[in-house]
Amino acid sequence: MSIKEHPPQLESSSGEPVHVPVLLESVIDMLQPQPGDQYLDLTAGYGGHARAILAKTTNYSESVLVDRDAFALSHLQDLERQGTRTMEADFVSAARQLIDEGKTFDMILADLGVSSPQLDRQERGFSFRLDGPLDMRMDRREERTAADIVNGYTEQNLVRVITAYGEEPRSRAIKIAKAIVANRPFTTTTELAETVKQAIGRTGSKHHPATRTFQSLRIELNRELDLVANILPLLPKLLNKGGRVAVISFHSLEDRLVKRFFKDQLDAGYEAELEMITKKPIDGSISDVNNPRSRSAKLRAAVKK
Ligand SMILES: C[S@@+](CC[C@H](N)C(=O)[O-])C[C@H]1O[C@@H](n2cnc3c(N)ncnc32)[C@H](O)[C@@H]1O
Repeated sequence: MSIKEHPPQLESSSGEPVHVPVLLESVIDMLQPQPGDQYLDLTAGYGGHARAILAKTTNYSESVLVDRDAFALSHLQDLERQGTRTMEADFVSAARQLIDEGKTFDMILADLGVSSPQLDRQERGFSFRLDGPLDMRMDRREERTAADIVNGYTEQNLVRVITAYGEEPRSRAIKIAKAIVANRPFTTTTELAETVKQAIGRTGSKHHPATRTFQSLRIELNRELDLVANILPLLPKLLNKGGRVAVISFHSLEDRLVKRFFKDQLDAGYEAELEMITKKPIDGSISDVNNPRSRSAKLRAAVKK
């Protein structure tokens, strides 16, 4: 499994971490934005992809930007001022609402996972490198945080999360879960990272020993795979005929879901609603070498028949 790398910190002129959109040229190639096209961005983040695409379509008022992170959306006010609608919601709820409203689009992008500013702001608690509260909520309106999982789950349940979403071998997950249970309660990211490191030592990988545990907690807390599995079948309903969708995933668990969905479409033959554009995924480590965030990115795209 490729782990999403923590990128070098990039800063805007205001000193805030910025997010450089991954595989931007490939996304534009796949979606082929044309003047007047209606665009739906399911994970708008800081609007890197959205700004580049909307500059081509210039159809701001019939485009929609979704994110469940209010802090990210607060950076999209320039686009809102041009008439673009933003929705603070998980993308499945947003998609259901748009379907109920009868809305369809010419292009959809889902750039999954976390953004650099989420990782780089220590108060968000996503990073084992930065001392912060054990939070990891993408949507800070939700009550449950990573601390509730770490301090509240049974040892067995922690083993499940760490093996399923961190893809740690079971023997290592058991060591980590036992150490968590023996040393809790935890309040900060660095306390947890240190305990994981003590439990399993150096793993021989170039990654910090806590990388996979942190990834697993983030995925569990934010229900990331459930939401990806649930958004995929809604995509054809949101596309106009000939409309295009691109999905960027950052680890094999996500990519497997996307790949299987597109393959099922292929297998459905004449009943399929989508046709794959990418036979093989576009690999960020080859197609976007200058952006460290693209290293583990895979892009798959399809068109509505
Ligand atoms: C990789 S970033 C997207 C960056 C964006 N493409 C850009 O160029 O700035 C992923 C964003 O998706 C959001 N996100 C992740 N899963 C989500 C979900 N299920 N529903 C809504 N937003 C989600 C995160 O909050 C984050 O802001």
